[in-house]
Amino acid sequence: MKLKRTHTCGELNLSHTGQKVVLNGWVDNWRDHGGIIFIDLRDRYGKTQVVFYPENADIYATAKKLRSEYVIAVKGEVQARPPEAVNPNLSTGEIEVRVEALELLNVSQVPPFEIKDYVDASEDLRLRYRYLDLRRPKLQRNILLRHRLAQFTRQFFDQEGFVEIETPFLTKSTPEGARDFLVPSRLHRGKFYALPQSPQTYKQILMVSGFDKYFQIVKCFRDEDLRKDRQPEFTQIDIEMSFVDEDDVMGVVERYIQQLFKQLFDEDIPIPFPRIPYHEAMERFGSDKPDLRFGLELNEVTPLFSNTAFNVFASVVKAKGYIGALVVPQASSYSRKQIEQLGKYIESLGGKGLAHVKFMNGQLEGGISKFLSADEHQALKTQLSLKDDALILMVADTHREFAQTLLGSLRLRLAEELDLIDKSVKKFHWVVDFPLLEYDEEEQRYVARHHPFTSPKLEDINKLESQPEEVRARAYDLIFNGNEIAGGSIRIHTREMQEKMFRLLKIEPDEAERKFGFLMEAFQYGAPPHGGIAFGFDRLVMLIADTPSIRDVIAFPKTASAVGLMENTPSEVDPQQLKELGISIENK
Ligand code: AMO
Ligand code: AMP
Repeated sequence: MKLKRTHTCGELNLSHTGQKVVLNGWVDNWRDHGGIIFIDLRDRYGKTQVVFYPENADIYATAKKLRSEYVIAVKGEVQARPPEAVNPNLSTGEIEVRVEALELLNVSQVPPFEIKDYVDASEDLRLRYRYLDLRRPKLQRNILLRHRLAQFTRQFFDQEGFVEIETPFLTKSTPEGARDFLVPSRLHRGKFYALPQSPQTYKQILMVSGFDKYFQIVKCFRDEDLRKDRQPEFTQIDIEMSFVDEDDVMGVVERYIQQLFKQLFDEDIPIPFPRIPYHEAMERFGSDKPDLRFGLELNEVTPLFSNTAFNVFASVVKAKGYIGALVVPQASSYSRKQIEQLGKYIESLGGKGLAHVKFMNGQLEGGISKFLSADEHQALKTQLSLKDDALILMVADTHREFAQTLLGSLRLRLAEELDLIDKSVKKFHWVVDFPLLEYDEEEQRYVARHHPFTSPKLEDINKLESQPEEVRARAYDLIFNGNEIAGGSIRIHTREMQEKMFRLLKIEPDEAERKFGFLMEAFQYGAPPHGGIAFGFDRLVMLIADTPSIRDVIAFPKTASAVGLMENTPSEVDPQQLKELGISIENK
């Protein structure tokens, strides 16, 4: 190429008037105004208007053939636009470049969608042509924001004395609750590496090695059902520290978030963040990641119905279950049909139903009111401090936490529908005191709620065998506007305790040895007390970019069915490759 750029397409302004410049970029927009051709030339820095006049016949003839996404170089003089042509929305909107030399660097086929922020192309089409999608200003902003957050993260943890250390991808299974992605070994036929679900075991071993403070921005791989905030490969900011307790780890994280918002956006986020015990989060919000930007809390009403004649509630009370209520202040904004839809929503989540009554003119009416006694009417009125025009929605279930989760989901849906969320607010808080274990009905055993390396609370250790469900973990999750953006814990650091934990989880000693023998062995050589946390980096960027999908902040994401549409992954491989690996494929 002959014409190398002297400036970018986002750089020029009135102060450059009269200068000869060269710009390189893509044709964004081509217009012919009475024989004069105007082109907006685009690169990642911005757009600049360049103008072709008919007097230079050669150049003009080429300019006529230019189309969207052609790549060109232009040379010319910067001139002020006439006042009526100034575009105040563009940093370069006061000038244009009068072209005197043009070089066509490459042509382009007609793109399958326009390169602009609001396109109506399907997401599949955009992912298929991701390189064009990534040219759109919105995605460019997201990817640049991601870059800035990554750079800030490195700088912050470096200044706090953390060491960035890489850990292997070809590794052993790391239990984070998903399936592993496996990589077959050619050299060791029949054996497999697992891609890490997280660097958990390695970072703990780095503490045994004395690195004291470790961090890494690292890919993790999890074969699990995808949702809008999940990807099969995603990025964590992974952190581990020695000689610490909960307050130290949470303290670093709070400083990180505070400084991130201050330095990057000049926003003040107050610290420390509030800490909410898990049980309180469930009782008040029906969620282990409650959104605290609005109220609409759950109210337990089980005791009011201890002698009820209403069958649905009576059977739940008898089974020592739970009945909870949400009070919606604007009953009149909900039609019968809309209430039915809320009921269907509860059923779609596996609930048995949604009972409702309305409070109008000092009376409970409608819904299940006719099944309730006068005493029950009175009790509801008093306990829920009902004011006129209230809609009371109730869920009953024999399983307490399940009923609360249903109400928690309903709470979020109502907040959206009633527009209760102030989107400008940023709420950070911790959820702490998680149960260490949860019972897995399918597997008929306890599983670790976090992962099996999480330490129980010291004061609960004596309940490990007698009342395992009562034991709390030294774990903490960081919640940002109702999204779990980080999770971590203080770890077990002795072989005895780790073995005890595996016994509790019904992981046989030989299985424990096979899978985690190296970690337990390391614990025998002076493992310091340690703990850490990991951020979901993509989620953090997604929330800061204020975009609804995690795919909007990842350059090359997978679809919801874990497919790479551009490069076409996963795909079949040569039979020869399979042969070398000793693998044959059953019924495709
Ligand atoms: P955890 O499994 O909670 O903890 O993961 C930490 C954070 O990673 C994010 N995350 C994901 N983001 C996108 N797609 C996914 N599939 C996905 N899965 C998780 C979440 C989550 O809070 N080793 C422990 C950390 C520790 O104990 O230090 C771990 O991985 O934002
Ligand atoms: P039924 O007597 O089964 O017609 O139920 C009466 C009302 O109670 C209906 O509005 C149901 O949606 C509601 N309902 C049924 N099961 C439950 C439950 N477990 N929790 C709350 N409401 C329920």
